[in-house]
Amino acid sequence: MAAGKGTRMKSQHPKVLHRLGGRPLLQHVLDAAAGLGAARTIVITGHGADAVEASLSGSGAACVRQMPQLGTGHAIQQVLPLLPDDDSTVLILNGDVPLIREGTARALAAACGGHELALLTIELDDPAGYGRIVRLADGSVRGIVEHKDATPLQREIAEVYTGIMAAPAKALKRWVSALKNDNAQREYYLTDIVAMAVAERVPVVAETVADETEVLGVNSPLQLADLERRFQRRQADSLMEAGVRLADPARFDLRGTLRCGQDVDIDVGCVFEGDVTLGDNVRIGAHCVIRDARIAAGAVIHPFTHIEGASVGPGALVGPYARLRPGAELGPEVHVGNFVEIKNSTLGAGAKANHLAYLGDATVGARVNYGAGSITANYDGANKHRTVIEDDVHVGSNCVLVAPVTLGAGATIGGGSTIARPAPAGQLTVARAKQVSLPTWTRPVKAKKG
Ligand code: UD1
Ligand code: MG
Repeated sequence: MAAGKGTRMKSQHPKVLHRLGGRPLLQHVLDAAAGLGAARTIVITGHGADAVEASLSGSGAACVRQMPQLGTGHAIQQVLPLLPDDDSTVLILNGDVPLIREGTARALAAACGGHELALLTIELDDPAGYGRIVRLADGSVRGIVEHKDATPLQREIAEVYTGIMAAPAKALKRWVSALKNDNAQREYYLTDIVAMAVAERVPVVAETVADETEVLGVNSPLQLADLERRFQRRQADSLMEAGVRLADPARFDLRGTLRCGQDVDIDVGCVFEGDVTLGDNVRIGAHCVIRDARIAAGAVIHPFTHIEGASVGPGALVGPYARLRPGAELGPEVHVGNFVEIKNSTLGAGAKANHLAYLGDATVGARVNYGAGSITANYDGANKHRTVIEDDVHVGSNCVLVAPVTLGAGATIGGGSTIARPAPAGQLTVARAKQVSLPTWTRPVKAKKG
C-alpha cells in the first residue's frame, strides 16, 4: 500500500519515494518482498502515482491506482480483480514501513498458509494512534479496533496492529468487498476484516514481532531520520560482526553495498555510496565520501578524501583532502596527496602526485613524480585531449602540460614550464622565460610632499 499522502512529511514528493540508506522507502519493502518468491507483487499507488510508478519501472511489480484514497480497506478493494480465487496467500505490506525483515514477512505468510488470517502485532509502551488487538478471555483474537473508535478501556490495550497481515486470497476478496465505512473516520478499514474472519470461524493468528524497528512507519522527517539511524546501525552491526572495525557505529553511513576484506578499519564520519569494495587491511580515515569504488588491499585513505568511480591499487596512499573522480585508476603503491584531483587517468606503480595538482585524461607511467601545482591542460574549450607521461618522468612544480602531449620515459621537466610539444626521453626540458637580474636597478622611493 503506497497511496497515502504523507501529509506530515510536508514535502512535494510522495512519501514512499523519500530515501532511507540511499534507497526509496518503497524499494526497501519491495526488496524484502522479493526474497519471498511471490507469484506477483502489486503496488497500490495514489498520491504522486506518476512518480511512484516511474520509480518501479523494471521492478516487475504491477501498479494499481487508488483514486481517491478512502482508507486501507478501499486500497485493497482496488486489487481484488487481480487476486486469484483460491487459497493463495496475500501478504499486505505498507510502503512506509521500510525495515520489515524478509524472515518476519516469510513467517507471517507461513502462518497464514492460505487458510488463516495472520496479523503482525507488537506491544508498545505508547500505543496511541494505532489499531488495538482486542482479545477474548481465552486469549483468542476478536478483532481490531482503531484508536479513534476505541473505548477508554480498549485504549489501554498495549498490543497493536502493525499494518502488516497475510490473508487467504479467496476469503480476503469476500471480506474486503463487504467492508463498510461506518466509523469515526468514514474510511473503509482493512482492519474490520478481522471480525469478519472471527464470525466465519476462520482462525486468526497474531504473530508478535520483537524488534520494533521492523514495524516503525515513516510519517515525518523526524521519524525518517530516526529510522535512518536504526537502519545504519543494523548495517554497521553486520559489518562489525563480519570483522570490520568501525571507530563509531553511530557515525557511519552506508547508502548502497560495502564489501570488506579482513582487518578493515573505518574511522568516524565516512559515507559509502553505490558499490564499494575494500580489500584486506584497508584503512579509511575520518570523513571520507566514497562512491562506486574499489580500494585494494593495504591501501590507506586519509581523512576528508572524496572518491567516486575510481580504483585504488594495493598499498596506495591517498589524501588527506584528495579527490579521485570517475576513471581515476591508481596502480600499486601510488601516492596521491592533499588537494590533488585526478580524473579519467591511470597512474602506474609507485607514481606520486603529492600536493596541489590536477591530472585529467592522462596516462601516467610507473614511478613518475608529478610536482606540486602542476596541471594537465586537457580541455581546449571544445575537446578533451590526452597527456602521456611515460615511466620515471619527473615533472617539476607548477608545470602546465598542454594536451595532447607526451613526455618520454625518464624526462625531467623544469619547474614552471608550459609544455605544449613532446618532451624527449631522458632529457631536461625547460620552457619558461630566462631568469634575468638587473644590477643597476634601484627601488622606487616615495615622493616627498610640498
Ligand atoms: C493503519 C491501521 C492500524 C495500524 C496502523 C499501523 C487501518 C484502518 N488501520 O492505521 O490498525 O495500527 O496502520 O501503522 O488499516 N493507504 C492507502 N490508501 C488509503 C489509506 C492508506 O494506500 O486510502 C496506505 C498508506 O499509504 C500507508 C498504509 O496504507 O502505507 C497505512 O495507512 P495509514 O493512513 O497510515 O493507516 P493508519 O491510520 O496509520
Ligand atoms: Mg499510519
